[in-house]
Amino acid sequence: MAENLNATSTPAPALIRFKDVHKRFGPQVVLNGVTMAFTEGQTTVVLGPSGTGKSVLLKHIVGLLQPDVGGVFYRDTRIDHLNDRGMEPIRKKIGFLFQLSALFDSMTVGDNVAFPLREHSKLSKTDIRDRVAERLAMVGMENSEKKMPGELSGGQRKRVALARAIALNPELVLYDEPTTGLDPIRSDVINELILKLHEELKVSAIVVTHDMTSAFKVGDRLVMLMGGSIIADGTADELRSHSDPRVQRFIAGRADEEDLRALHRI
Ligand SMILES: Nc1ncnc2c1ncn2[C@@H]1O[C@H](COP(=O)(O)OP(=O)(O)OP(=O)(O)O)[C@@H](O)[C@H]1O
Ligand SMILES: [Mg+2]
Repeated sequence: MAENLNATSTPAPALIRFKDVHKRFGPQVVLNGVTMAFTEGQTTVVLGPSGTGKSVLLKHIVGLLQPDVGGVFYRDTRIDHLNDRGMEPIRKKIGFLFQLSALFDSMTVGDNVAFPLREHSKLSKTDIRDRVAERLAMVGMENSEKKMPGELSGGQRKRVALARAIALNPELVLYDEPTTGLDPIRSDVINELILKLHEELKVSAIVVTHDMTSAFKVGDRLVMLMGGSIIADGTADELRSHSDPRVQRFIAGRADEEDLRALHRI
């Protein structure tokens, strides 16, 4: 019946699912049984202290890391066992804005953005040129094709890296600390870009950040990773009124006694 198709009665489909994922490096346990689904069409923000495993989590989605135990799924496809060739069609659907924007310093801005198109699409030279110009314009970097990355500011580099991440029309964009190291105005430009891409390209997104202003602005849903597992999951309002004091401290940016004792030992 038509009523059954109503969005309110059908849960939104999961684009990415982590099923009891464990990951350690030597003796260090980083992910200790992470089970969660990232919903299609949403922007999910992943919060958590430095060194807690947020980048490690993202790297599992593109196959740069594999779980020791557990599974990672892209829609219904289990992806954690795939080799590079098996991952290729999945990687093409994902744009990754790395934590350190990782432009190729010896290539022009235009060649940086064209790189994934030359590697992974069959577009003609003219179509590539047009797509590069269009994506640079989307991030406010029009006519910068001939510049070298070394001539750009940190914020401009991030925007070029973002133009490259969205060059192939991804259905999912992973942003690892998109605003770190930027002043508040440039950070807000990036936030607005994330929102704009969400609206114009209809992308799903996962945003890793420490920046609470950014988290509240772009996130439909916020999750907090701490001590190897997800300790909070909800809307901005739900996180603001969360009962776990660790969540409250993180949101308020307040050190606890243990953090301060570490300071006194210095
Ligand atoms: N390839 C690796 N080999 C060994 N240890 C690693 C590797 N990648 C990550 N780690 C360790 O795993 C832990 C989590 O790292 P990760 O980069 O995910 O932290 P993060 O939450 O992204 O921190 P930040 O907010 O500072 O970026 C860290 O202690 C890190 O040293
Ligand atoms: Mg990180």
